[in-house]
Amino acid sequence: MPGDSNKIRACVFDVYGTLLDFNSAIKKLRDKIGPQSEQLSALWRSKQLEYSWLRTLMGKHTDFDQITADALDFSLSTLSIKDKDLRNDLMGLFHKLEPFPEVSKILKELKSNELSIVILSNGTSHTLTASLQQAKINFYFDEIYSIETVGKFKPHPDVYRIPCDGLGLEPKNIAFISANSWDIAGAASFGLKTIWVNRSGSKNEVLTFDPNFEILDLTMLPELLSAGDFR
Ligand code: LAC
Repeated sequence: MPGDSNKIRACVFDVYGTLLDFNSAIKKLRDKIGPQSEQLSALWRSKQLEYSWLRTLMGKHTDFDQITADALDFSLSTLSIKDKDLRNDLMGLFHKLEPFPEVSKILKELKSNELSIVILSNGTSHTLTASLQQAKINFYFDEIYSIETVGKFKPHPDVYRIPCDGLGLEPKNIAFISANSWDIAGAASFGLKTIWVNRSGSKNEVLTFDPNFEILDLTMLPELLSAGDFR
């Protein structure tokens, strides 16, 4: 059918901040860390992303587990927190992040239609598999795509090509779903259709490549996908 050529055939999900709550690691140790908890969580996440961008620009790739540990070391040192056990506990908790409350229910709903449901994340295959299993949502995914296959982090265009090649689909037939607005801009720039999960009520990036849709959490996603005109 000619009218069908723009149909969405796959949902590609980002992981950190979108399905799994990065802040849940620090929240579990808030009593131990004290008043610096929120600052530590925000700095750790922003350094983790910054190091992923810098290493891709420098052409010096190392995996996301290492980058996460490096970012944590920088953040603890910046805040003068010297507790070695805390560092190891936080790295352990990074592998056991909590899913956002609505995630499991919505993935179950999406699974009942004909869409392929896959992951596209900066995480290593090993950590993604273990973390999604720990969060009890691994069985909803047809594939877990890690950027490790191209050795570059988001938002490099080679990354967004991974699900197109893997699923044999054109970018216009894929809905990419992320809570990270810069990730949405990267995916939109590549040509994927995009849905921004604006969990934190942020302003949209001024990066030219806007999302097709913006939602507050995943609750509206099934409706959007069944009714959605992404053209
Ligand atoms: C990811 C980061 C960007 O899961 O949240 O790829």
